[in-house]
Amino acid sequence: GGRHGKPAKGLRFTPVEPNTTDRVTVPEGYAQGVVIRWGEPILRGAPEFDPAKQSAKAQAGQFGYNNDFLMLMPLDPGHGRSEHGRQLLVANHEYTNEELMFAGYDPKKPTREQVEIAWAAHGLSVVAVEEKRTSGALTPVRRHHLNRRITATTPFRVTGPVAGSELLRTKADPSGRKVLGTLNNCAGGTTPWGTILSGEENFNQYFANAEKVTDPGRAKTLKRYGLSGGASERQWEKYDERFDVAEEPNEPHRFGWVVEIDPYDPHSTPRKHTALGRFKHEAAQARLTPDGRAVVYMGDDERFDYFYKFVSKKKMMRGHSAASREHNMSLLDEGTLYVAKLTGDSPESEIDGTGKLPEDGEFDGRGEWIPLASGDKSFVPGMTAEEVYVFTRLAGDKVGATKMDRPEDVEPSPRTGRVYVALTNNTDRGKDGKAGPDEANPRKGNKHGQVLELAEHGDDGRSTRFRWRLFLVCGDPEDPGTYFGGFPKDQVSPISCPDNVTFDPYGNLWISTDGNELGSHDGLFGVATEGKRRGQVRQFLTVPTGAETCGPLVQERRVLVAVQHPGEVDGASVEKPASTWPDGPGTYVRPSVVAVWPKDGGRVGA
Ligand code: FEO
Ligand code: CA
Ligand code: CA
Ligand code: CA
Repeated sequence: GGRHGKPAKGLRFTPVEPNTTDRVTVPEGYAQGVVIRWGEPILRGAPEFDPAKQSAKAQAGQFGYNNDFLMLMPLDPGHGRSEHGRQLLVANHEYTNEELMFAGYDPKKPTREQVEIAWAAHGLSVVAVEEKRTSGALTPVRRHHLNRRITATTPFRVTGPVAGSELLRTKADPSGRKVLGTLNNCAGGTTPWGTILSGEENFNQYFANAEKVTDPGRAKTLKRYGLSGGASERQWEKYDERFDVAEEPNEPHRFGWVVEIDPYDPHSTPRKHTALGRFKHEAAQARLTPDGRAVVYMGDDERFDYFYKFVSKKKMMRGHSAASREHNMSLLDEGTLYVAKLTGDSPESEIDGTGKLPEDGEFDGRGEWIPLASGDKSFVPGMTAEEVYVFTRLAGDKVGATKMDRPEDVEPSPRTGRVYVALTNNTDRGKDGKAGPDEANPRKGNKHGQVLELAEHGDDGRSTRFRWRLFLVCGDPEDPGTYFGGFPKDQVSPISCPDNVTFDPYGNLWISTDGNELGSHDGLFGVATEGKRRGQVRQFLTVPTGAETCGPLVQERRVLVAVQHPGEVDGASVEKPASTWPDGPGTYVRPSVVAVWPKDGGRVGA
């Protein structure tokens, strides 16, 4: 509070202090409960979780590992029969921590069963959840007819301009249109037509033997996408040769896409949308233009990589008929892919690399969306449209897109239309041979990251021009190189490494972090984006040892977070755990979804 009076509505709670306790710490007056843990059965026939007897078959019917993105969808009449007090939870399962999943795991010799369990623990889960009448708790509804697991072996249909391309054809799939599985699904988003988008992020880690590829063109693209070396970390190539680049050179081209899932049809074939480009997709968030087209904002989470958007050619159809649903699910097949170029408005000499504000008082400027390709037309000199879609990073390089500090999740404000982009950090900024600071990425050796606010010209997602400014330059508020939207820094919580973003019902931005460099565990923060409290960051929770905070969702009466990779600490194993969250000593540490709610049954932050 202090001299600025009460915090903004929705953020009226006692902030949690930075800490390193092995639990989820919530504000005074709030209760918490695990919604669902890794391994809980959700499909018919799936057994109870028993880590000593885990099997791939069991895992394929159970909640997956390392929950990241979360969404709650209504179970409303538009999508079948209404079920009072129930919602549909969708979660991504980004990757697996074998050393924390399997007792006695030998990373040099993974067994076939362990590898197949890991395949089944990747992907996504769709699971109905039920509200308690007396609290904000949510419990999974086992065997609900909409429950679904999507894994590293689920068939996907490739859509868009490079479906069927030679670059996507393999021995197992000469059509280049049918891919098994989705990998490293990090954050995601929703569409206005009621589907889920999910980003395939660090897919490079699953592929072996890039070092054996001698063709210089191939070697160059593999390197630009981070594929290198011999055996992969998990050695999946031992049990499926498609993960060996020397055997199946096109298989990596079949990952690194945005996928779309229809959570209301458990029998639908999910899609990989090539029109949205191929890179390390952190997330994808859609909204509509004033004339009804879909715009999707997307970050490529790598140091010095780019921020993108896609604008659909066709317009959304209203209503829930089968025809409108099919039409809307084809919107992302056709359109224009753009990459962002940001120009600061202050003299370069004022961007000194420390985070000190330039004389005009803000890191801000103008931006341009540079078109890369539309259908079969390329706008990039020397690249075909097919190459632009499959090797999108190289297209961004060619057109001089702005090298950002690891663009992570993105969310347009439902109130103002301004788009918020988490730039998590970039410790290489300004190093020898690397890009130096610029007004949008103003700090050398950037450890704490920043949050960028982008306003499309005319608030129209079709526009090719925008304004931008840094909303937060994260870190310790006592560090002069930080900025909290102009709010007095003696009244904010320290924040480091913003990763996922969402909005609450009052228009406040909520930010979860990954990799806190200030000595505390990661956490979740709320901040007003408008009015007198703009920039007043307040910490709502912290997560257990080794975890990052993911998938935040802030509803009127509860907050949901995905606690990802708890116990992931160098040298930790089942035998020597760094965390035993959530169930305590003698149990396996388990990535889980947690709900937090006011004990008095009231509204969050009211
Ligand atoms: Fe999977 Fe960019 O975090
Ligand atoms: Ca400026
Ligand atoms: Ca992330
Ligand atoms: Ca991250």
